[in-house]
Amino acid sequence: MYAQMVKSEGMKSLDEMSPEERAFQERIDRGEKIEPRDWMPEGYRKTLIRQIGQHAHSEIVGQLPEGNWITRAPTLERKAILLAKVQDEAGHGLYLYCAAETLGVSRDELLEKLHSGKMKYSSIFNYPTLTWADMGAVGWLVDGAAIMNQVPLQRTSYGPYSRAMIRICKEESFHQRQGYHIMMKLARGTEAQKRMAQDALNRFWYPSLMMFGPSDKDSVHSAQSMAWKIKMNTNDELRQKFVDQTVPQAEYLGLTVPDEGLRWNDEKGGYDFTEPDWSEFFEVIKGNGPCNKERLGARVQAWEGGAWVRDGLMAHAKKHAAAKLAAE
Ligand code: 3HC
Repeated sequence: MYAQMVKSEGMKSLDEMSPEERAFQERIDRGEKIEPRDWMPEGYRKTLIRQIGQHAHSEIVGQLPEGNWITRAPTLERKAILLAKVQDEAGHGLYLYCAAETLGVSRDELLEKLHSGKMKYSSIFNYPTLTWADMGAVGWLVDGAAIMNQVPLQRTSYGPYSRAMIRICKEESFHQRQGYHIMMKLARGTEAQKRMAQDALNRFWYPSLMMFGPSDKDSVHSAQSMAWKIKMNTNDELRQKFVDQTVPQAEYLGLTVPDEGLRWNDEKGGYDFTEPDWSEFFEVIKGNGPCNKERLGARVQAWEGGAWVRDGLMAHAKKHAAAKLAAE
């Protein structure tokens, strides 16, 4: 449902594979890294382009909700920290676009697909950031969920993606801590500040749980992606780990997770919790979330507004190449 056409259906067993496919799968099973010039099945290449491209777009679109607060950060120090974080996200996008380019797709093609709505970015960035506390909640919960998903991806089978993730994860953990630090300040502040922190947690809790993707029964790509080690865990496994890690952090802050069904379950050694509203998730990824139009509009405007810079650079590169050729 609402998925691009790289489906897990029709997964082959080792016996059904061609000799090339079998040798490839055995390399993955041995834990070897696949590098850009190695032979790979077309589905592996397409799935990676889809996932890495979507991930790159998420980093770039993800700058917008926080960029919104740079001029309104309460102190010079907070402004400098937020600015650095938003710049880091641009860097993450660039590493990831480069990793995708090693698979034979250009950055322009990926951006065209984002701008025309053919490629997705993370659902979370279609929610508004209404107060300063949202900067805390985004760092704590959104970057926290991103780390939970991305730490295992450091071991993903595709070399360039795995190496990009190592650098990204180091920076994401700084992002998560700066968000938690904002929440600590607010949670220990005045009554109005505590209310603002609680309100941010209330609004960002379920959208953060949705970041891990649909429940396993509706995840069309997980089985094949896990066999190829493009994904290392299922969506539900990571969501459970995130809840188990985050609930004690909310308790430490003195805030309440907005879920009346939240209970520690001794038997499973984790929390039972209420699933997000999946109909809301599917609406958001279809383009009908609270900020989809605004976010995509901002990216398209930036692309069109920057055309003269790209044209100028290309003209300069051409002139430089022609002058070099003439001198030879
Ligand atoms: N937002 C938007 N679309 C989502 C989604 C989400 N949170 N979760 C799933 N989907 C989409 C999938 O892309 C797929 O649609 P598609 O075929 O059109 O691409 C469909 O829903 C079905 O979901 P599946 O579970 O079958 O899809 P995947 O196997 O791709 O799993 C995923 C989804 C767990 C997000 C996986 O792609 C993944 O691990 N991606 C890499 C990490 C990533 O992209 N993170 C973005 C987070 S934000 C971020 O990193 C920025 C940081 O600064 C905070």
